[in-house]
Amino acid sequence: MQFSLAVLPGDGIGPEVAAEGVRVLQAIGKRFSHDFNLRYGLVGGVAIDETGVALSQDTLKMCQGCDAILLGAVGGPKWDDPKAKIHPEDGLLTLRKELELFANLRPVRVFPVLVDSTNLKPEVIKGVDLIFIRELTGGLYFARPKRQWQTSRGRRATDSMTYSEQEIERIVRVGFELARGRRKKLVSVDKANVLESSRLWRQVAMEVAEEYPDVELEHMLVDACAMRLIQNPAYFDVVVTENMFGDILTDEASMLAGSMGMLPSASLAGVPKEGVNIFGMYEPIHGSAPRRAGLDMANPIATILSVAMMLRYSFGLVKEAKIIEAAVDEVLNGGYRTYDIMSEGKVRVGTKEMGELIARKAEG
Ligand code: IPM
Ligand code: MG
Repeated sequence: MQFSLAVLPGDGIGPEVAAEGVRVLQAIGKRFSHDFNLRYGLVGGVAIDETGVALSQDTLKMCQGCDAILLGAVGGPKWDDPKAKIHPEDGLLTLRKELELFANLRPVRVFPVLVDSTNLKPEVIKGVDLIFIRELTGGLYFARPKRQWQTSRGRRATDSMTYSEQEIERIVRVGFELARGRRKKLVSVDKANVLESSRLWRQVAMEVAEEYPDVELEHMLVDACAMRLIQNPAYFDVVVTENMFGDILTDEASMLAGSMGMLPSASLAGVPKEGVNIFGMYEPIHGSAPRRAGLDMANPIATILSVAMMLRYSFGLVKEAKIIEAAVDEVLNGGYRTYDIMSEGKVRVGTKEMGELIARKAEG
């Protein structure tokens, strides 16, 4: 089969981890005679330096013409000035909005061999296997009004938490669909004791639930969810929530896995269902880690697992996705570790070697 892929390596360690994601993808292509046609583009700080914007119209068009996007990471101290007009993150937000990537999937799995590299007690994180679905194109990030202005009594600023029932319905549906293929338990997170947008969210979630009698729906307040994630993370199966709540909770949840270097993500433009290929952007959840850039240190596993998600959701290649996931497990079981997950008695490897080891297993 033939697929086209936009690769946006971005800043910091982005290019290094993206290269390893591509390496593993090519290994799968070779093994199964799939043809992955790659097109490269600039996003983030490198794009600002080169073109004056964090994502050029040409790059956006190029992405629209592909079946999926693989993104490394954006940002760095060079572009951090809060007074600057353009930020590397704008590139990411533009991609999300323009390509309608409303469903952000962030799975958190605790790898048994890495139980020692987390800060939590092994008995607390044992068996954790959950997936967050974060709404990605609405709420406080994008809704209007959103501005800063001058008044006679000083400066004021506002952001808006606005949701339409259509926006809520489609994201909640993603939750139900994924729960159906898992342990059939969906937690919808809101702040319905205070916020109107959350009250609408809760109502719509209950309405959609009628179509999914096989899935158990539970509503949880966002503060309680933050607590429960640490107290009993294995409680969760699928969690769905609005943009800002999801941003915060997924950073918290990522710590269950020990290292951000292990966690992939997908941002989809539709509701994932078996047999349907959806346009999506795939990226590790970690940032650009500027201090590690160019040192062949970064853990490429989050990006490699993002490639597996791409095969599953955008290309319909589920068997190939599972092969990549198994290859990662095998290499970890073989004792190989990048610096962030290193422990005594293990073999420390760099970004490239980790990518090569996984690619070799994936190629079979
Ligand atoms: C994330 C990041 C982004 C966000 C930033 C880089 C704009 O924190 O993907 O979680 O807030 O969505
Ligand atoms: Mg975040």
